[in-house]
Amino acid sequence: MAKVKTTFFCQNCGTQYAKWQGQCNACKEWNTIVEEVVQKPDKSDWKTPSSKTNKRVSKPLRVNEIDASKEARLNSLDNEFNRVLGGGIVPGSLTLLGGEPGIGKSTLLLQISLKLPYKTLYVSGEESQKQIKMRAERINPVNDTCYILTETKTQNIFKQIESLEPDIVIIDSIQTLHSDYIESSSGSISQIKECTTELIKFAKETNTPVILIGHITKDGNIAGPKILEHMVDTVLHFEGDRNHVFRILRAQKNRFGSTHELGIYEMQGSGLREVSNPSEILISKKDEALSGNAIAATLEGVRPLMIEVQALVSTAVYGTPQRSATGFNAKRLNMLLAVLEKRAGFRLGAKDVFLNITGGINVDDPAIDLAVVAAILSSNEDEALQSDFCFAAEVGLSGEIRPVQRVEQRILEAEKLGFSTIFVSKYNKISLKDTAIKIQLISKIEDLVDLIII
Ligand code: TYD
Ligand code: MG
Repeated sequence: MAKVKTTFFCQNCGTQYAKWQGQCNACKEWNTIVEEVVQKPDKSDWKTPSSKTNKRVSKPLRVNEIDASKEARLNSLDNEFNRVLGGGIVPGSLTLLGGEPGIGKSTLLLQISLKLPYKTLYVSGEESQKQIKMRAERINPVNDTCYILTETKTQNIFKQIESLEPDIVIIDSIQTLHSDYIESSSGSISQIKECTTELIKFAKETNTPVILIGHITKDGNIAGPKILEHMVDTVLHFEGDRNHVFRILRAQKNRFGSTHELGIYEMQGSGLREVSNPSEILISKKDEALSGNAIAATLEGVRPLMIEVQALVSTAVYGTPQRSATGFNAKRLNMLLAVLEKRAGFRLGAKDVFLNITGGINVDDPAIDLAVVAAILSSNEDEALQSDFCFAAEVGLSGEIRPVQRVEQRILEAEKLGFSTIFVSKYNKISLKDTAIKIQLISKIEDLVDLIII
């Protein structure tokens, strides 16, 4: 029996201490340091089967001696998931999928497991086999290469893996696993660290990809030690507003591809549906143009996305006017209102302003500014904008219309969707010729007022 050793871990950031203290030096949180019993494993948990043992010792090689042939990736048959991963699942890689409870992490991975044409082992520590079966029936199609195991002890999981020899392993979730070599409870820092280390060892030695689901804390980070994100190859985030149907899958870290890619899904009664042309869905098709609506040509990662912005400007009933924004930074809204007041002479100081980005999407792209301003102006004048207008520019403090990146990509997307005019900054360099869409160049906010308010 190995010697029992105890260590103190901060439950917030995972920093290790030799003795207890009140405040964590690293994250400055109080009362988060907890003693955990750590028993150093005598032997490795994942025992490589003798047939697969590779006693390879790596040698230094010249860069051009290294085999650069592209590693064959496993196709998940889910275009959005493949795209975010950079073209498919890399053999031997560890992927961590984080997201708020109830957002659809288990649904997404179960759905992918059911579609995968490989032998897949879905290990759940959260739901019973029956519950998973019920979920699988909702999703369809059920195939016969997906195995479900309800187990939380890593040693038992490895035993099953050894006999089943799956091509891909999915763990739901890393916080429910526990290893016999560590005495603290599941979900504690040392357990998460140990279980992940064992899984990494397994993945790298057998070249089997492993996908982990991770819970997130209330401030949006993946629960557990920060080191977890360093240990895995890819960190994905599944996000969205639970009251809306759209979900966005984003790569936060990707050792095998870009982190600019984005996957969009729609939650339906029968699982998640891939959304391949999001712009068409996010814009509501109306017969009648309404005041206060404007369309922004934004970019999410590298994907162009046409988003509808709605504003409501009304006389404040109470003394202090209210300003509220959903899906848009409220401070930025206040700044844009101040610019409109000072540079374009609109008296908005005594008005309530409400702003909403439809579809429950959160937008960081500064190119949405111009659409926000246009929507506010339209609502203030109670005059609808032409429904085939769209906007892509940032607004500066002095009311200048600033250029945005990849403007041509935005213009082409707007053209494809049949918009007649796109408003962009005069300072953007555009080399597109003969476009069916009219490119309206503007330099100051007053130009916009003259052009859209008749
Ligand atoms: P779930 O995958 O359990 O979330 P997580 O694992 O991230 O906690 O998703 C649960 C939600 O998804 C639940 O509120 C119901 C909804 N849902 C559907 O709308 N349609 C479906 O087909 C499924 C399986 C779930
Ligand atoms: Mg779940």
